[in-house]
Amino acid sequence: MLTFLPSRSHLDSFYHLDADPVPTACRGLACFVARHLNAPAWREATAHSERVYCLGKCYAAPACTDEDQRPRVEVHASTPVLLGRVLGGGAPGIDRYIKRQGYRALELALRQSPEHLIQTISESGLRGRGGAGVPTGRKWDAVFRERSNEKFVIANADEGDPGAFMERVLLEEDPHSLIEAMVIAGFAVNAARGIIYLRKEYPRAAVMLREAIQDARRKGILGSNILGRRFCFDVELAIGRGSYVCGEESALLNALEGKRPEPRQRPPYASESGLYGKPTLINNVETFANVPWIILNGADAYSRLGCSTSKGTKLISLNSLFRRPGLYEVEFGVTVRHVVEQIGGGLAGELKGVIIGGPLAGIVPPHLLDTPFAFEELRLIGASVGHGGIVAFDEHTSIRELIHHMFEFGAYESCGKCTPCRVGTRRIEKLFARAWFNEAEDAEWREIVRAMSLTSFCGMGTGLAEFAQSAIRYYAEELALC
Ligand SMILES: Cc1cc2nc3c(=O)[nH]c(=O)nc-3n(C[C@H](O)[C@H](O)[C@H](O)COP(=O)(O)O)c2cc1C
Ligand code: SF4
Repeated sequence: MLTFLPSRSHLDSFYHLDADPVPTACRGLACFVARHLNAPAWREATAHSERVYCLGKCYAAPACTDEDQRPRVEVHASTPVLLGRVLGGGAPGIDRYIKRQGYRALELALRQSPEHLIQTISESGLRGRGGAGVPTGRKWDAVFRERSNEKFVIANADEGDPGAFMERVLLEEDPHSLIEAMVIAGFAVNAARGIIYLRKEYPRAAVMLREAIQDARRKGILGSNILGRRFCFDVELAIGRGSYVCGEESALLNALEGKRPEPRQRPPYASESGLYGKPTLINNVETFANVPWIILNGADAYSRLGCSTSKGTKLISLNSLFRRPGLYEVEFGVTVRHVVEQIGGGLAGELKGVIIGGPLAGIVPPHLLDTPFAFEELRLIGASVGHGGIVAFDEHTSIRELIHHMFEFGAYESCGKCTPCRVGTRRIEKLFARAWFNEAEDAEWREIVRAMSLTSFCGMGTGLAEFAQSAIRYYAEELALC
């Protein structure tokens, strides 16, 4: 039996939330841009050396751990794929889940061949919701094709992007949908073991998942001879220790193996050599949550939702500066303007820009709000779908303050493996902490951004550079005044 995440080791200093409790006040992006709404809360968040960069309560930002108000939840798609049960009050318990169509997709899947299941996922057009948008069927097929006596299925529940809270809600209110999808994936790729890597910042999700795993075992949905078939699969829960970079899949694998959690050189990809060198399927929680619906309703029904190369629906989370903050399910192809103005109801302040998908992507400025919310369409303007967390900012935040916040976050979370990110984030944080800088320093930070973009080892450094480049591109005038 393997043990995951040894509790104390020489790596303890790498993690931010190792032995300590999670700090009570959040200093993530959504809380930062809303700091004027509750100055004492923000002061508390920034008063201590211990930091937490997102509690997943961005709809109530600036937020703290004892905030337990449920976010507004609505479906703005022609059919709910992901939020059906959550809308109806949630289905954390297994009996309620089964009453509401739960585990029917698994029954259906176990009567099909793995090849047929993978074909269905491929034809649905489902793409990964963890940021890169990799076709899910292609990943499943790659793991299926590997010959190995042991394979793993991992759910990435690290949801580290400040501004995103869709997975927190799914895990707390519909945890069995993840377990059901993981068992289906295990059957499809011929794996017997599943691991959910959950961030420590979501303690309630941990409770709900533990309960759900136990209930699923009791009902014969996890374990041996699942639903009477000759198929065994079990799921374990591993809790993170506070490190944004551990959401990157190869760093996550190192974390699970008890190694320093830096990203790994690729290839080989996880599908070939993942956890302990074994073929490993890693998908994001929301990616998995689509699977039962696709099995029950068919690939065609799914691919009719959405647009162009972005099929299906997507969860988006809106921060507290919107008049209607909350969690929404939309179809890909809706414009960013529709999200901001119709769904979110606009802002009380003056919209200066929208950061979609966390700190590793570009800003959408007001004049580009008509861009469709979809993978390639956002790429064309230097932005990204990312996780779908949407953080609007207004006149209370200067572009200079925003850059400082992002690079302070980057410097704190950089794993230090490569020089451009390790040194570059710290230098830019330092430069932007000052009220002004001279011409040479102005040229210097732009040069660092270029170097980070071209030479960083993983998406953390290149993504932060992308964010900075979009600020340079769209907010040149404001930056020139600094
Ligand atoms: C710095 C960094 C942090 C990441 N954090 C997460 C995360 O918290 N959750 C996640 O699902 N993917 C995260 N990713 C993306 C993962 O590496 C990976 O692409 C994803 O889990 C694959 O699942 P998918 O194919 O279902 O999208 C991160 C990537 C980078 C570069
Ligand atoms: S870009 Fe380099 S230093 Fe930054 S997180 Fe990735 S590997 Fe670590």
